[in-house]
Amino acid sequence: MNKTIEDLKTRRSIRKFKDEQITDEELKIILETGTYAPTARGLQSPKIVVIQNPETIKEFSEWNRSYFPMEMPEDMDPFYGAKTLLIVLADSEIPTYVEDGSSVLTVLVNAAHAIGVGSCWIHRAREEFASEKGKGLLKECGIPESYEGIGHVVLGYPDMEAPEPLPRKEDYIHYVD
Ligand SMILES: Cc1cc2nc3c(=O)[nH]c(=O)nc-3n(C[C@H](O)[C@H](O)[C@H](O)COP(=O)(O)O)c2cc1C
Repeated sequence: MNKTIEDLKTRRSIRKFKDEQITDEELKIILETGTYAPTARGLQSPKIVVIQNPETIKEFSEWNRSYFPMEMPEDMDPFYGAKTLLIVLADSEIPTYVEDGSSVLTVLVNAAHAIGVGSCWIHRAREEFASEKGKGLLKECGIPESYEGIGHVVLGYPDMEAPEPLPRKEDYIHYVD
């Protein structure tokens, strides 16, 4: 099978990571590939925030957990112990910002898999950056306040077998004459 097609089909969400940081070279490849994601009108409006400081990741993990719809155990890390955290933000002044940010997230997880780095897309960035704390962080980073959180990607070396994908739904694809 074509390597790209195989990678797209074999990527799975990884939820257990080795206690080892990915290399700077791997991070650079994943980030740069993310910037080649399709965006409406080629505006490239999304931003990718990179966090590798363990204390900052822990803070974001607790923050993310606080937005979980159900009560989550204190020791449950929504980032699964990953040592690299990416956050994709996009400019809400652009009508397609959610699609643009999601496009970047999709490319990031697939780029990671293509070079042997495990990843998982993590939700609740919208809640984080809609809060006063989130708006303050945007300001600190020099990112305009019109930016909203679209999603996170956690990265690391998998410490688990990739799970079997669920069977694809039979009515996923509809042909129209
Ligand atoms: C918008 C979106 C939000 C997601 N949020 C989470 C999340 O918060 N935590 C998590 O463990 N996985 C999350 N995922 C990963 C999905 O659960 C996962 O992609 C799905 O179960 C299919 O599994 P696969 O990625 O291994 O094919 C999210 C995926 C998407 C697209």
